Amino acid sequence: MTETYTVRLEPVGVDLEVEEGETILNAAFRQGISLPHGCKEGQCSACKCNLMEGEVDLLKYSTFALSDGERENGGILLCRSLALDDLTIELLNFDEELLSKSIAVKDFQGRITRKENLTHDIRAIEIDLATPIKFWAGQYVDITVRTKEGETVTRSFSMANTPDEAQKLRFIIKKYPDGRFSNELDAGGIEIGADVTVRGPFGGCFRREDRTGPIVLVAAGSGMSPIWSILHDHIASGEDRPVYFFYGARTQGDLFYLDEIAAITAAHPEIAFIPVLSHADDDASWQGARGFVHEVVQTELRRLGIEGDGDAYACGPPPMIDALSPVLFMQDFDPDRTFYDKFTPSTAPVALKAH
Ligand SMILES: Cc1cc2nc3c(=O)[nH]c(=O)nc-3n(C[C@H](O)[C@H](O)[C@H](O)COP(=O)(O)OP(=O)(O)OC[C@H]3O[C@@H](n4cnc5c(N)ncnc54)[C@H](O)[C@@H]3O)c2cc1C
Ligand code: FES
Repeated sequence: MTETYTVRLEPVGVDLEVEEGETILNAAFRQGISLPHGCKEGQCSACKCNLMEGEVDLLKYSTFALSDGERENGGILLCRSLALDDLTIELLNFDEELLSKSIAVKDFQGRITRKENLTHDIRAIEIDLATPIKFWAGQYVDITVRTKEGETVTRSFSMANTPDEAQKLRFIIKKYPDGRFSNELDAGGIEIGADVTVRGPFGGCFRREDRTGPIVLVAAGSGMSPIWSILHDHIASGEDRPVYFFYGARTQGDLFYLDEIAAITAAHPEIAFIPVLSHADDDASWQGARGFVHEVVQTELRRLGIEGDGDAYACGPPPMIDALSPVLFMQDFDPDRTFYDKFTPSTAPVALKAH
């Protein structure tokens, strides 16, 4: 018989049941309790917390997410922890809104209905679901596709559409040279008519409502996907707040949706778009910002005199997020009002620690 353990979460005083061999994060998803998380694979540290009582077994994780010193002092990752007896856990990044907006994770059947090339290595796809999914703007799902060779591959992707389109999901996906999932975009596994499984929703980087102050949106590459959803959800909400939307790319050829963005900024003067190119040195035709996106965020926020009292959302490659978070911190953005999704790769380029 499968053993079941009780996990008490402090300081919220919530109990959940976890089965033998099940991670605490998966048990929480199953019971419709949304705890702080990001990658779900032991790489991003978003689910880090303290074990106060009991014993856990840890699956493989990156020491960037949980250092040896943190582990020795009782630190654990919810997405990697298997309970060995009843536990008491202290949540470090307790987010009341995340908990109150919990949506139970479910499986959905879907079919790919559209594919579009946005740049040389960024594609948009559309998936029609058999039944609607409830999610918040900025969240993501796990998509499972079958390759031509009959293998299944699962990866996380953030919805680019808004939650009101609950049965037709759009995704912006970057192709990696050896990417097992993303190569299927051209190799035949991800083609119009293909059946896919969608599991979700996941993620805490979703749009918070009824706040004051400016909104800072930062995306790089396919990080556009959740930021596009957040931007459109914000516009649909009718909230009148200044929005600074920074987008980092390498060259002009890596930019997309420029016509759509021009239409948005023309209709909404309170929304500013700041594209930033990191490799435009030889491009005299480029009139916009040059450098890395976090550098330009810093210069612009200082120039505009924006210090704190706002919400910041950032999505994209982990190095971009790691460089940006101290910038927002130095500009006095409240850590409780800064939301990130690191697009960590599944096959981690960093060492995973086995236990
Ligand atoms: C919360 C979350 C949300 C995400 N949302 C999106 C999204 O909306 N759009 C999107 O395109 N991706 C998103 N991702 C990333 C996505 O899940 C995959 O990791 C990515 O598509 C690569 O998968 P793959 O199978 O093509 O490559 P893999 O087979 O996993 O990797 C192939 C090679 O590419 C390298 N690689 C893979 N990803 C990266 C990276 N980020 N940076 C540098 N090298 C890399 C790997 O090191 C490896 O060498 C998200 C990830 C997370 C955790
Ligand atoms: S969600 Fe656990 S380390 Fe990313």
